[in-house]
Amino acid sequence: MMDRCGRCKNEKTPLFKMSRLNSLLCSSCFEDYYERKVKNTVLKYGMLNGVNKLAIAASGGKDSMALLKVFSELFPHIKFAVIHLNLGIPGHSDECIKVVEKFCIENSIELLVYDLKKYHGYTIGDLSNLKNNKRICGVCGIVKRHLMNKVAYENGFDTLATGHNLDDVVEILFNLYLNGNVEEMSRIKPVAPSMNPKLIRKIKPLIEVTDQEDLYYVISKNLDYASSECPLIKGSRMVERKNLILRIEEEIPNFRYRFLKTHLKRFLPILKEHSQPITLRECDVCSMPSVGSICSFCKLSSRILNWVENA
Ligand code: AMP
Ligand code: FES
Ligand code: ZN
Repeated sequence: MMDRCGRCKNEKTPLFKMSRLNSLLCSSCFEDYYERKVKNTVLKYGMLNGVNKLAIAASGGKDSMALLKVFSELFPHIKFAVIHLNLGIPGHSDECIKVVEKFCIENSIELLVYDLKKYHGYTIGDLSNLKNNKRICGVCGIVKRHLMNKVAYENGFDTLATGHNLDDVVEILFNLYLNGNVEEMSRIKPVAPSMNPKLIRKIKPLIEVTDQEDLYYVISKNLDYASSECPLIKGSRMVERKNLILRIEEEIPNFRYRFLKTHLKRFLPILKEHSQPITLRECDVCSMPSVGSICSFCKLSSRILNWVENA
């Protein structure tokens, strides 16, 4: 006997095995489930309130391609541009840029590509020869965060959407709670308002959908996405932690969602009450907001250039 969709009860293929719902869904019931969930998140957190000029940061991976598609489907009247950072990762970045370019051309979306090598003289690929693999993702994260914000700011956008999903955010939170990193914890939320004219408001429309659901959405919608994983991620602590969290979820159903909810509802209000406003100044090198005289991106860039030149 053929399996049936858990919702419409029809015998259709493909059927997606939904870990979170513990059921099978056909393509159309799955797309309906996914789109409703994302729409609900966007509306619940007021992500589009007051937005005039929206950019979506797309790496070309399954999450950001799912985000571009679901956004176009749900909010066809809202115009957005795409920002892509070319990080120069061998065997990966070329594929990523092609995927993003193709989507933007086919859907007539403005694309801004920012090339790390061209403007800063190094690539993330250069780091792989120099640094312990376990730390590259953290270094790369600082570069990506800074550049996504900078490109959005310099091009006059007021809101930047990223494809961070539930697994990404819970992995970040897990680590922050483990280390008691209270400052950073208070910044993890679905909507991060702008704290400074040069810091763009950030939104995470996929914060309530999982890695698996993003993957199913791109498959169901027959979308191209970068099939190559970032080769530098292998063996990183981030991947180990994501796997650990999936194992916890097997024992504690809905663990990821509960963790996120507890963080947002219980801890964030207390953290907010006790946190001191940070005074920002301009970085002496790049003039973007910074706590010290030189921002963490510029400090890192000069160290990387040093390593690369002396390698
Ligand atoms: P990651 O840090 O790789 O988990 O990516 C989180 C989100 O940051 C993605 O869903 C994208 O929205 C954005 N992002 C990551 N890498 C890039 C990139 N190379 N270009 C543009 N956006 C990116
Ligand atoms: Fe940053 Fe792989 S994309 S280390
Ligand atoms: Zn700087």
